[in-house]
Amino acid sequence: MITATLHFQIHISSIIALQMFLLKTWRSTAFGVYGYLNFTKSGFLEHSKHFKPEDMQTRIEGKNCVVTGANSGIGYATAEGLASRGANVYMVCRNKERGEAALSKIRSTTGNQNVHLEVCDLSSVSKVKSFASKFASKEVPVHVLVNNAGLLENKRITTSEGFELNFAVNVLGTFAITESMVPLLEKAAPDARVITVSSGGMYTAPLTTDLQFSDEKFDGVEQYARNKRIQFMLQSGKLETNRKG
Ligand SMILES: NC(=O)c1ccc[n+]([C@@H]2O[C@H](COP(=O)([O-])OP(=O)(O)OC[C@H]3O[C@@H](n4cnc5c(N)ncnc54)[C@H](OP(=O)(O)O)[C@@H]3O)[C@@H](O)[C@H]2O)c1
Repeated sequence: MITATLHFQIHISSIIALQMFLLKTWRSTAFGVYGYLNFTKSGFLEHSKHFKPEDMQTRIEGKNCVVTGANSGIGYATAEGLASRGANVYMVCRNKERGEAALSKIRSTTGNQNVHLEVCDLSSVSKVKSFASKFASKEVPVHVLVNNAGLLENKRITTSEGFELNFAVNVLGTFAITESMVPLLEKAAPDARVITVSSGGMYTAPLTTDLQFSDEKFDGVEQYARNKRIQFMLQSGKLETNRKG
């Protein structure tokens, strides 16, 4: 009798393991195809066929744009693109030296001197809050907030505030800066917009309540994908927050 129960349990757990394996394989394959078609360089080139040339040359003098993680990669290109169209750009960077180097490069390539550096480490909610209150004293309406800063840290690192690092930057810091900018975005209404740079990688991970990846062996890639899915859900208003403090 005991042997039969044991067999039955082993059988059930093998079926569950097989189901999980098939689900993961299906998810990776489907994402691989969808990702190649939509999120790679060839995806961009395909989508860009539908860009309107006149939209690409729009001038945006007088618009105040905040770009996080603006010293490199997509954030740098975004800040430079906005500056070249005449916007007042506020580059939010965590490292002063890297930020200053990017700032002077953008000023010289675009000729736009209305580009500014703000130093803020998004992995700390208290730093985001103090940056936001200092920034609010400028009393500038914010027309565009680009939440670009993000990271994929493979090791499990805990911030001084007790949060897993990927989650702290990609989700908490991004949410905190967005929320703190709301009064300034409202000043720019109805023109204001918030753009959050998520990732097609989010399709590889389902939503989970284990926000800090503490229930199983840590996997930075999986955590990044989970974070990007949460970013998307928060931005699209599909998730509600239940905040304390
Ligand atoms: N590249 C891709 O293929 C790809 C695809 C999908 C989505 N994305 C998303 O696009 C965004 C930009 O990625 P990227 O490829 O351009 O990467 P990147 O070159 O590494 O840029 C990331 C930026 O975020 C900043 N950052 C990281 N941690 C920060 C923190 N704690 N506080 C403030 N800033 C912080 C980095 O600053 P430091 O220079 O100081 O580290 C850097 O400026 C990310 O959100 C990423 O998830 C990228």
